[in-house]
Amino acid sequence: MNNFLPEDWIEEVRSRNDIVDVVSEYIVLKPSGRGFFALCPFHNEKTASFHVYPEKQIYHCFGCGVGGDVFSFIMSIEGLNFTEAVKYLADRVGISLPETVSPNQAIHSKDTKDTLYDINREAARYYHRQLFSQKGEQALEYLTSRGVDIKTIRRFGLGYAPAGWKNTKDYLLQLGFKEEELVQSGIIIQKNNKSYDRFRNRVMFPIIHPRGTVIAFGGRVLDDSLPKYLNSSDSPVFNKSSVLFGLNLAKKERPLKNIIIVEGYMDVITLHQYGFKNAVASLGTSLTQGQASLIRRYTREVFIAYDGDAAGQRATLRGLDILYRAGLKIRVMEFPKGMDPDEVLKKYGSEYFNKLMNQAVSLIDYKLDHLKNEHDLETVEGRVSYATKAANILITVDNVLERDVHIKRLERLTGFKSELLYQQIDKLLSRNGPKGVKNPSVGNNSHIRRLETQTALLPGYIKAEKGLINLMAQNEDIAKEVFKRLTVEQFQVDINKEVAKIIMELLEKGKEINVAAVLSYVKDKEKMEQIAEIFAREMEYDNINKYVQDCIEEIEIYNLQDRRRKLQKQIADMDQHGIADLDEYRSIIQELEDLNYRLKM
Ligand code: UTP
Ligand code: MN
Repeated sequence: MNNFLPEDWIEEVRSRNDIVDVVSEYIVLKPSGRGFFALCPFHNEKTASFHVYPEKQIYHCFGCGVGGDVFSFIMSIEGLNFTEAVKYLADRVGISLPETVSPNQAIHSKDTKDTLYDINREAARYYHRQLFSQKGEQALEYLTSRGVDIKTIRRFGLGYAPAGWKNTKDYLLQLGFKEEELVQSGIIIQKNNKSYDRFRNRVMFPIIHPRGTVIAFGGRVLDDSLPKYLNSSDSPVFNKSSVLFGLNLAKKERPLKNIIIVEGYMDVITLHQYGFKNAVASLGTSLTQGQASLIRRYTREVFIAYDGDAAGQRATLRGLDILYRAGLKIRVMEFPKGMDPDEVLKKYGSEYFNKLMNQAVSLIDYKLDHLKNEHDLETVEGRVSYATKAANILITVDNVLERDVHIKRLERLTGFKSELLYQQIDKLLSRNGPKGVKNPSVGNNSHIRRLETQTALLPGYIKAEKGLINLMAQNEDIAKEVFKRLTVEQFQVDINKEVAKIIMELLEKGKEINVAAVLSYVKDKEKMEQIAEIFAREMEYDNINKYVQDCIEEIEIYNLQDRRRKLQKQIADMDQHGIADLDEYRSIIQELEDLNYRLKM
């Protein structure tokens, strides 16, 4: 992720940027106990659940689950990558780049990007002016005929790329940009040693980064010719599959309760004009992980407003699953067949659209309905097939209460007893993962993680793991004490195991152990959030040593029980299928007896 900034230098930047100071530049922090709290800048809420811990130099929101260190905070709030965030914070406190880094390495890449931003900005201005010039008359008429008013045109900075092969190119060259830079920006095409305008005689939609910079364009023909839409090619500042059109405007809405995801540029624009300013569109591709995390920075709920019946398509459903896994609450809207949101609004108005929003169903309900329509429930085959596929969908529902509601409904629809449906789901779960439904806390899916936060419901050994990890990261003596009795492998939950491993490495290298040091080894955002959540927990202990010993014991016992279960299964298999190796059989029996003895103590 970071290939040229030295570790020491990064640590220097971290230690000079106190997290409380940095966060205070964005939101108002109120003191509370040993830390501070505020309304979370990453989701909308009425009660403050965003906490900052000066001692640990971390933040965590108990409402939406974001969290991490000062670098991850800047990455999220400024939309930067890790290296950019480190440089940003270095700048903030006046630390210059380390001498080992040639200024070119760091600054060169900044320079090209800046030039590309400049080119896009100038092109956007140019296109916008053309729209109101004589050449743009037809284009303006086209937009007007589609109901786009002048205010909306201004707000989105819409424009017109004139017909002809080199209007834009000549204009930008004359501003002093180099031809190769124009080609790099993706708005000028180079072929066989010739270069020419990518967009000719098209209505132009500037694509604007949430930061506010123009990074690319979409362009639409004025008639029925093909291709209907063109996009700038990918460039160092534009990656089609990680951008959302309209997000720069949507993110300004306060409160941003939810985001409406549509398919097209025109859908965003019309929605906006009708007062739905929280609409965004992907650029003709299905949704990606990058877009999901982008959305998650601003809101926790999305409405899917795809063209009539487009949501049910396989590729689209996959995109929706990505949103779901990113921890977003999803509601799917349904439109009359063949109509898109743009058409629906113009034909039926915003009240009707609001109604459709209220009627939107959850992703699971949507999938189940969609599936139901594909089956004939009058026949036995239809009911079996429907129930089987529905079970496959229901394994993604972690909440057992929610799952129960679906299963009851399935029972009514298919006539199969709910016990059978539960059996089917259990079967699928044990095939999909070793721990299945009985152990929802293992694994690193974010929807599973949400369950994990309900600590009261967690099995004791997982609570014990979390408690230990939290203490070990703050106290070297406790870390050493724990490793006297437990190995890294004995931690069951992946994320806990990972933290234990980091602490072990820090100990081995003789480095100082604290929360920031541990977090500096974690670059993955999801993981960072999960770990920050563990560290954010403040606990009171009557007797901390006793607590540590109890936790260790809890984990030891779990491991013994786990081993016993495995051995019992082996014995059962051998009893059933015949004993191939009597010595092995005996030694397993022996180990089982030992285990039983130790577990009784
Ligand atoms: P649609 O064909 O649904 O277009 O494509 P639309 O948004 O309803 O457009 P209008 O109303 O006819 O103007 C949806 C999206 O798919 C991408 C564009 O991002 C478009 O907004 N697309 C479509 C392309 O990239 N290229 C195309 O040729 C067509
Ligand atoms: Mn349309």
